[in-house]
Amino acid sequence: MNSVNRITSFFLLAVTLYSLSVTAQAESGITGKSLYQAYCSQCHGLYGDGFGVNSYDIDVAPRDHTDAGEMNARTNEDLFKAIKFGGKSVNKSPLMPNWDGNLDDQEINLIIKHLRKICCEGGQ
Ligand code: HEC
Repeated sequence: MNSVNRITSFFLLAVTLYSLSVTAQAESGITGKSLYQAYCSQCHGLYGDGFGVNSYDIDVAPRDHTDAGEMNARTNEDLFKAIKFGGKSVNKSPLMPNWDGNLDDQEINLIIKHLRKICCEGGQ
């Protein structure tokens, strides 16, 4: 095999692997929204307004994630830390659980994108 062919086959292999992984991700159907609805909505509400079913029984109100003023005062790093390590890590209530045992960094970042949509871009 000459070097042009070798480069071409390497390139084709890379493209194939890349499209396989994109397809796998899309097919798994995991989005920031689905993760949020599965793990966060019981406290923060399905639409992120802070009125999840548990919110009535806990002493500290879960953050209203649709509050653009409050949410714009947080960097993505702040949100990441609060989600991964829990409320205590950002001097908030320990009633906000840590999710490092359930969500990997990529999933947390998908959720942060979803949070930015619902707080500040009018999406749900
Ligand atoms: C058991 C109830 C509960 C669940 C489930 C929960 N939270 Fe919270 N969360 C809270 C409470 C309560 C606070 C407010 C803490 C405070 O203000 O002291 C909070 C605060 C936060 C904050 C910090 C907001 C700020 O003011 O900086 C973020 C970000 C957050 N939650 C994201 C999430 C995400 C994402 C999930 C799902 C992966 C989730 N929460 C699941 C109860 C919960």
